[in-house]
Amino acid sequence: MRYLPFLILAACLNSLPAQSQVNRRPVHHYSQPKNWSNDPNGMIYLDGEYHLFYQYNPFGTDWGHMSWGHAVSKDLQTWETLPVALTEVQHPDGRGSDMFFSGGAVVDSLNTSGLFKPGFKHGIVAVYTIQKIIDRKGAGESQGIAYSEDKGRTFKIYDGNPVLDIGLDNFRDPSVIWDATNKVWIMTVAIPLEHKVHFYWSKNLKDWELKGQFGGQGDITKIWECPALTRVKVENSSEKKWVLLISSGHKYDGYVGMQYFVGDFDGKTFTPQKQEGVFHIDEGKDFYAAIPFGNPPASQPDPIIIGWANNWAYGKDIPADEYRGQFSLPRKLTLVDENGTLKLRQVPVISASIPTEKVTLTKGRAFTSALSKKNENVYRLVLDLDLKDSKGFEIELLKHDTFRTLVSYDVQTSTLTFDRNNSGETGFSEQFKGLESMTVKPENGRLKLDIIVDKSLVEIYANDGKAVMSELVFLKSNTSSYSIKWK
Ligand code: FRU
Repeated sequence: MRYLPFLILAACLNSLPAQSQVNRRPVHHYSQPKNWSNDPNGMIYLDGEYHLFYQYNPFGTDWGHMSWGHAVSKDLQTWETLPVALTEVQHPDGRGSDMFFSGGAVVDSLNTSGLFKPGFKHGIVAVYTIQKIIDRKGAGESQGIAYSEDKGRTFKIYDGNPVLDIGLDNFRDPSVIWDATNKVWIMTVAIPLEHKVHFYWSKNLKDWELKGQFGGQGDITKIWECPALTRVKVENSSEKKWVLLISSGHKYDGYVGMQYFVGDFDGKTFTPQKQEGVFHIDEGKDFYAAIPFGNPPASQPDPIIIGWANNWAYGKDIPADEYRGQFSLPRKLTLVDENGTLKLRQVPVISASIPTEKVTLTKGRAFTSALSKKNENVYRLVLDLDLKDSKGFEIELLKHDTFRTLVSYDVQTSTLTFDRNNSGETGFSEQFKGLESMTVKPENGRLKLDIIVDKSLVEIYANDGKAVMSELVFLKSNTSSYSIKWK
C-alpha cells in the first residue's frame, strides 16, 4: 500500500502523452526528415519535377554547415526528399569549408554556360552565395555556380568560382532569370546592409556586369535578403507587371518578414508603382525568404512561391525533436487592382485530400460540424461569414486541455487577429508570444476565410488570398477541436 501514491502518479503520467510523442510534423507542408532548414533555394521546374532546394545543416537541428537540401514533387502536394545536393564535403580543392548560402537555379537549355555536352538541354545551374568561414582573406560573400547533368541529383562545382566578387562581406542570395528581350541572364542579388539589390547581366552565367540597382525604399528597418524578380499577371487584363520580392523587416519590431514592390523593369531599372506604406506578402510571423519556381511548365503560367515557415526572431529556439524548420504551402501569385493600386493575391496549392469543411455562417444560425469535434490537427476550414448584425466573431482553433489558438475578427476596425499565446508550448522564446493582426475589409458585407491547419502550422487566406497570415503553433496533443462564436 505504501507504493499506491507512486502507482497512481505513474499511471497518470503514462496517460499524458510525453512531449516527444506529440506528432507536430505537418502532413501537407514539406519538412525535411531531420536536422535544420531555412530558406528555400534554387526552386526550379524541369521535366515533370518541381525542385525545392533549401538551406540545410546535415549535422544537426541548429543552424550551421550550410548546405543545399533537396526535395522533389510532381504535383506540389507530396514531396520526396533526395540526398543533399550541395555540401561542404564536395568542396573541390580542400581549402576549407565554405558554406553554400541561399541562391537560385536555372535550366540552361541552350547551354549558354558551355558547362554541358553540346546539345544537352536539361542542365541545371545553381547560382549561390559562397560564404567563406575559413579563408577570410578575400571577401566574406561572393557568388558561385555549380552544375548538374542529372536533374539536380548531383552537382559539380565550377572551378572558376567565384563568378562574382565585389569585395563585400555582405553580398548575397542571387536569383537569376532569363531575359528573352535582351537575351541575357539577369541576376538580382542583395547588398543587405545597404537595403538594396543589384542587377547584373551575363551571357554565360560566368561573367557578370552590373547594370542597375534598386533600394532604400519600403521597409528598411532590417537588412535586405533573398531578393527575387518575377512577372505576374494582372487579373482581368492582358497585362503583366514585375514583382520584386524582398525578405526584410516586419510591421512588428524585432521580427523579419517579407515585402514586395510592383512595377516595371527593363532589365536595368526597376520602377515601382506609387504605393502607400509597406506591402507585406504575409502578415503573420512565419513566412520568410520565399522565391518563385523558375522555368514553370506551360500549364502553370502564374508564378508559384514557397517560403520558410519560421522567423529569425525565435527560429533557432523552436521545439525540435528530430527536425527544426518547415516550409509554407506553394502559393500561386496574381495581381489584383485595388482602387488603382496593384496588390498580390496568393492562392495555396494543396491536396484535396485534406479534411475540408465549407461553411456559410450568419449570426444566429446554429453551426455544428463533424470536424469541430475531435480531429487530428489537420484540416481546412473554408468560411463564408455574413457579418450582418454582428460585431465580429471568435474562432477557437486547436482546442486541447486548456489550450487554444484564437482567430478573432472585429467588424468595427476590420481587423483579423491571431492569438497563439495559449496555443500549447510557447515558453521557448519570449518573442514567440504576442498578437498578430491584419486589416481585411469585408466585401459586400461578407468575409471569406480559408484556414489551413496542419499540426504545427496555420495559414489563413482571407478574401480569396488578398491578405495572408502564417503562424507556427506547438500543440501538446495529437487531437483537438474547434468552435466558432459570434460577438
Ligand atoms: C536568410 C539568410 C540568407 C542567407 C541564409 C543563410 O534567411 O540569412 O541571407 O543566405 O539565410 O542560411
